[in-house]
Amino acid sequence: MNEKPQHIAVIMDGNGRWAKNRGLSRSRGHLAGVDAVRELVRGCRELGIPFVTVYAFSKENWQRPEAEVGFLFELFLQFIRQELPELMAQDIRLNFIGDRRDLPFTVRQTLDYALRKTADNKSMVFTLAISYAGREEILEACRRALADGLKPEELTEEKFRSYFWDPALPDPDLIIRTSGEERLSNFLLFQSAYAEFFFSPVLWPDFGPRELRLALDSYAARTRRFGKTDDQLR
Ligand code: IPE
Ligand code: IPE
Ligand code: MG
Repeated sequence: MNEKPQHIAVIMDGNGRWAKNRGLSRSRGHLAGVDAVRELVRGCRELGIPFVTVYAFSKENWQRPEAEVGFLFELFLQFIRQELPELMAQDIRLNFIGDRRDLPFTVRQTLDYALRKTADNKSMVFTLAISYAGREEILEACRRALADGLKPEELTEEKFRSYFWDPALPDPDLIIRTSGEERLSNFLLFQSAYAEFFFSPVLWPDFGPRELRLALDSYAARTRRFGKTDDQLR
């Protein structure tokens, strides 16, 4: 039996298909997805999980139609504004990983305000991954290490991580992906080295407390060996 995960990271997938199944626009799927995010955060806060990360927009997602991208960023803006009082009330710190240079000015401004405002909250860290790409995070870390004039022998794993978008974010223990897709899509590549995976067939807007429970039960039943033998774990 595992202890509960310290860090759950979620690849929220299937908003578009959820909407299509109902004859609705993709935007309506994204709107419904926001409710599921709110529920996830509440659920994890109640369970005392200290780190929750959601993959909200990948670097690759910039290739989507301009109207969908525009809608999503409006939604992020609205979400951050609307959730701020609840984040404060629940003592949750908002956090961000991704390429902030890509963010529209108003989003950056609102995000920065919410990050500052929640900076001292202690009960949970809720990280938004927006314009995130694992390969880019690794490349950017290399560039910054080189720019610092680091010598090859100085580049330890710990030092390398210090150049990541959030060096303080622990590795995810459990990565959940919804909608039946079973891939990482460039999420937390370096950090997922020893993550457990849970793939749910449910489309993201339908992911609720029941599905979270299934994921946590599955996680609890796994043996995390980290390269060791079962005997060594005893
Ligand atoms: C996930 O749902 C949300 C984002 C990637 C922003 P999708 O929009 O990918 O939904 P599907 O995969 O098309 O159903
Ligand atoms: C992954 O979903 C990215 C997010 C959930 C933000 P996608 O829907 O973009 O992934 P692919 O393209 O199917 O791999
Ligand atoms: Mg998708």
